[in-house]
Amino acid sequence: MPDGIRHKAGMTHTLTSTFETASYFFIYFEGANETTMNFDLTEEQLAVQAAARDFAQTELLPGVIERDTEQKFPAAQIKKMGELGFMGMMVDPKYNGGGMDTVSYTLAMEEISKVDASASVCMSVNNSLVCWGLERFGSEEQKEKYLKPLAAHGIGAFCLSEPEAGSDATSQRTTAEDKGDYYLLNGTKNWITNGNSASTYIVIAQTDATKRHKGINALIVEKGMPGFVVGKKEDKMGIRGSDTHSLMFSDVKVPKANRIGDDGFGFTFAMTTLNGGRIGIASQALGIASGAYELAVKYAKERKAFGKHLSEHQAIQFKLADMATKIDSARLLIWKAASLKDQKKDFVKAAAMAKLYASQIAQEVTTEAVQIHGGYGYVKEFHVERLMRDAKITQIYEGTTEIQKMVISRELLR
Ligand code: CAA
Repeated sequence: MPDGIRHKAGMTHTLTSTFETASYFFIYFEGANETTMNFDLTEEQLAVQAAARDFAQTELLPGVIERDTEQKFPAAQIKKMGELGFMGMMVDPKYNGGGMDTVSYTLAMEEISKVDASASVCMSVNNSLVCWGLERFGSEEQKEKYLKPLAAHGIGAFCLSEPEAGSDATSQRTTAEDKGDYYLLNGTKNWITNGNSASTYIVIAQTDATKRHKGINALIVEKGMPGFVVGKKEDKMGIRGSDTHSLMFSDVKVPKANRIGDDGFGFTFAMTTLNGGRIGIASQALGIASGAYELAVKYAKERKAFGKHLSEHQAIQFKLADMATKIDSARLLIWKAASLKDQKKDFVKAAAMAKLYASQIAQEVTTEAVQIHGGYGYVKEFHVERLMRDAKITQIYEGTTEIQKMVISRELLR
């Protein structure tokens, strides 16, 4: 098993403070007329990237095609990811996290997603929706009880979508009736990542419909609470190894202590958490694209047609040039969003732009990678076939392409 990022990147308080003070998009002046922008990664970030690449190649690559075919959740691999520190990368070490910056997280997400996007969506949801949300907005008691185990080894789920509330997230039908000491939770959630494998679920529900989004709460629900049933597993086009289920709540008693934030804070909680989540999904899309690109380059150097390697044909060279340019552009948008978040600056527009663009180029790059592979690219033994199917979901979850455009234009025009 490869070394963990706890060991390699030194997940200690000392290093945490180094991360916190590092500036990744630092503009500095070297003389009166010269401005330089530094895109170099730190030693710690490079170590995280190398550890994630190593893990993906040695632990995730074997069996990834079979897991996709059989829709098998990578349970053993996710357990190792927890042991190595990939499930709570940005959480403060005092809550069992890695204390790392968001840039490091995007690097790890890209490397894991190059190989297994089913594993990386589990990682993304746990890191950026569940752990981040709990650390930022949870009570001390909630952090002790729920964040600590989730940061150490996962697995949490974020439950917002419903049969009649996908993009229109304010139209929550799930209800959390205030009963004094507890909420009575009733309703159905759909397409929930980690739906069966999670131990802890953050469920968004309507307490007072007259207040619209200001009457919504975010509740921590434990697996096994009476009345909580995990429904059917979805048979998906891509990320088939990931564990996507519907969830049913029937008179589930959720203690008041499990509400995140004040009464009515649930929608703001969901929106704020999703802003950061989009950086994770953008990194996933980038990884899917760069994984397909690397396979296409390798294939183009090996395969011959018309007496020479594909890579010697200008038609293929131009495709590769376009693919590489798109990948680099997406990476810069993602690093910018991550860097802004690390600097505690407004990153809402940057994260939406990163997700919008990275998910779009993931479609384009994976399609071209299949095209370069020709007939081989269309069969399941070749990884590009799966990557092309996996790419599509990045335009749908954590806010569709259309929702990202809505977020960006609202930020531009307000
Ligand atoms: N950040 C913070 N707050 C935000 C926000 C953002 N990006 N967008 C909206 N809000 C706030 C608004 O400020 C407003 O609060 P106030 O009244 O207090 O100011 C409140 O939310 C309601 O906003 P709007 O009036 O603009 O609501 P709307 O209905 O017109 O639009 C929306 C809201 C932005 C479209 C929202 O419904 C949305 O983001 N939908 C997409 C939902 C989504 O991303 N789902 C993903 C499911 S989770 C998932 O996929 C996880 C997984 O398993 C992989």
